[in-house]
Amino acid sequence: MSFTVAIDGPAAAGKGTISRGVAAHFGFAHLDTGLLYRVVGAKMLDGMDPVEAARTLTASDLDRDGLRSAAAGQAASKVAVNAEVRAALVDFQRAFARRAGGAVLDGRDIGTVICPQAEVKLFVTASAEVRAMRRFRELVAAGEDVSPDQILADVRARDDRDMNRATAPLKPADDAVTLDTSEMDIATALAAAIAEIDSRRPATA
Ligand code: CDP
Ligand code: CDP
Repeated sequence: MSFTVAIDGPAAAGKGTISRGVAAHFGFAHLDTGLLYRVVGAKMLDGMDPVEAARTLTASDLDRDGLRSAAAGQAASKVAVNAEVRAALVDFQRAFARRAGGAVLDGRDIGTVICPQAEVKLFVTASAEVRAMRRFRELVAAGEDVSPDQILADVRARDDRDMNRATAPLKPADDAVTLDTSEMDIATALAAAIAEIDSRRPATA
């Protein structure tokens, strides 16, 4: 039996951290769907047609170096406005969601478009300033030469593109539970997510 947890929200809200914790706690498989768009964005920067990159994407592409860079993130949010790119990535994500033993997928449109039937939908968010500071610390730790102002502008530009695109814009599903992590540490946010999932799991599972 499949059991799907959909975790959506803006950049650096804590989706990945919560998803990994949820996957470890329940033994679910985890797919960071942002990586799919990052792969397509990185291939576009290499000169490949993004629709072709999306159609030929395989699981091994997700191991590519440099996908976490700020440049790959920006390129990802640009290719993500393309409806043909998005359509080409749907089957890969839905097949993952149906895995036996449960799956957690995080992204922007998992609860709204990819898995509207997901048993649990969380919308993880935080203020743009908090998210920019989290992402800034991460990029500095990874050795990138960036400024806090530049990262805040980057987060805002991506929020704007993600929320205002015509196809699968970032927004909470009607039945999503919102988790604002602006003032939550990781342990508190993870505990809230686990409690929400527990409340929706079949008693026999
Ligand atoms: O996946 P997403 O871009 O939404 O965010 P993430 O990669 O899970 O988290 C971005 C950064 O914020 C990471 O360095 C996390 O450790 C940190 N974080 C935090 O400080 N407090 C939280 N409640 C959640 C994440
Ligand atoms: O880690 P962070 O939240 O900064 O970004 P990400 O999840 O890796 O996603 C990078 C970009 O891919 C986002 O800004 C979105 O434009 C796009 N994306 C999307 O459109 N749909 C998804 N399900 C996941 C990501």
